[in-house]
Formats: sequence, C-alpha cells, structure tokens
Amino acid sequence: MAIASLSYVRLEMREPADWLWFGEQVLGFASRPAEGGTVRGTLCLAMDAMPFRYLIEPGEADRFAAAGWECADADAFGQSVEALREAGALTRLGSDVEAGSRGAVGLAFGVDPSGNAFELCHGRTVNEASFSSPIDGLRFVTGAMGLGHAVLPAPEFEATDAFYREVLGFGVSDELTLPPPVEGAPPQRIHFLHADNPRHHSVGLYNFPAPSGVVHLMAEVETLDDVGACLDRAKAAEAPIVASLGRHLNDGMVSFYMLAPGGIPIEYGYDGRQFDWSAFEPTRSTAGDIWGHEYNFPG
Ligand SMILES: [Fe+2]
Repeated sequence: MAIASLSYVRLEMREPADWLWFGEQVLGFASRPAEGGTVRGTLCLAMDAMPFRYLIEPGEADRFAAAGWECADADAFGQSVEALREAGALTRLGSDVEAGSRGAVGLAFGVDPSGNAFELCHGRTVNEASFSSPIDGLRFVTGAMGLGHAVLPAPEFEATDAFYREVLGFGVSDELTLPPPVEGAPPQRIHFLHADNPRHHSVGLYNFPAPSGVVHLMAEVETLDDVGACLDRAKAAEAPIVASLGRHLNDGMVSFYMLAPGGIPIEYGYDGRQFDWSAFEPTRSTAGDIWGHEYNFPG
C-alpha cells in the first residue's frame, strides 16, 4: 500500500494567529518555529515529535488547503508519483526547499477528482526529542498512525472513491449510507478508507460539498477525561459545538465535534479501534453512531 499515514494538514487562514491561541489552549497542540521555506506568518502546530501536524498559512480566505499524505520510503513515493502522473492527478513536484518546509525529503502536489488538493511526501524527520502540550500531560494518539483522519468533500463521489483506492492504494474499511440531509437530496454516503496503519480510517469521502473545504479533521487523545476536559475548554472558549458527545459505530471513537477558527470542524475523541487489515472484511453500515453525536453542522 502506497500511503503510510495522514502526516499533516495545511490550512489557510486570514488570521493564523487566531489558531495559535485556539490550537494551544483548546486543542492542546504545541506551536513550534516554522521550518525554513515557509511563508512569513505561517504557524506550525505539533501534536507529537513530528515538526508539525497542522501548517497554518496566511491566506485570502479561511479554508482547508491540503492533506499531506506520507509514503513509507522513497520507492513508495516514486511509485505513487508515477501513478498520479498516469492518472493526470499530479500538479507538480515540490522543490527541495518546499519539501524542507514540510520537514520532508520529497514532496509532490496533486488534486483528486473532486478538486481536493493534496500533497504527497516522504522522509519526514522528527526534529524534536519530545512533545510537551500546553495542556499539562496531554498526549495524542499519532505516531505511525498519523495525525488522525480527514473526511473530505467528494461531490464527484465514484471517481474520487476510485482514485483513493486505485491510484493512492487506500483500503476500504466501511461504506456508510445515511438518509438524505434534506428532503429531495440523494442519500448521504461516506466511504471510510484506511492507509497502511491500524487506524480504522485515515480518509473519509463524503458525497456532498463542505463550506470550509473539509468535512472534519479528527484528533485522538488517550482518555475519556482528555475528551471531556477539551469539551470544557471549547465551551469556555465559546467554540460552536457541532456534534455532542457520542460513540461512532465503525471506529468506536468516543468524540465530540467543534468549530475551530475559520469554521474548520474538528472531531476530538478517544478509544478509536485499531485493526489488522490482513484479516479484515470491509463493512457496510446504515448508522454512524452507537449513541450520541447529535449533529448541528452549519449549512
Ligand atoms: Fe471522524
């Protein structure tokens, strides 16, 4: 499988500084000095020993800019770049300076059939010996499983689904069908796909557009208390809570969803199940949750 993990995400914000306080004091991420080659005013937020997991760049609009997919090594990266080129999905290769700005050795830019920009990298180096959250003792479930997951808008559903499976090599974990969001609309479909790590899904594809460019991003912590404490911090910060506490059916995650600055939906959870894919049969679901998760997303 080509993709090892969701290594980082890039956001564009009119005011990256808004993310500094929220990222540190609500989410518990740690800001680090930006690598060379980033635009002035770029914010790097770490969740672990990686140089960053969230790269927040100044921009014209508040939006999700790209998912950063990491390949296991240079060979896997080279094969994926070729596959992207053949599929007509390779935008360009990144320069050494651009790769360095991601803490990586190699970098490429692409776009999926629904227009979601992404990056492909390999050889990200861990440049910090330890991670220390501004929230005392908080740790994220990351490492080889990447930063969490991203659910992306995929209005061109079939083509986008085929792209992630056949070109990027993701595996199917669960295919979820839900009733239409409004009367007269088609049913909601979310395909949950895994990368080459035990996390249930690193990407989800949703058959409707999303105003911020991302349906949500997920961060996983170690305990229920960590989730509850973040819910308290989010409420104190008056962040909109767009889904109440609940447990998902397919990955078992107990989580809530909030809007971070710029309207970026963040799922914050714990207890995500981990899988051995060699003996796994993909599932089909018609319910997203075991309990809770009363959704109240804008739009
Ligand atoms: Fe999620």
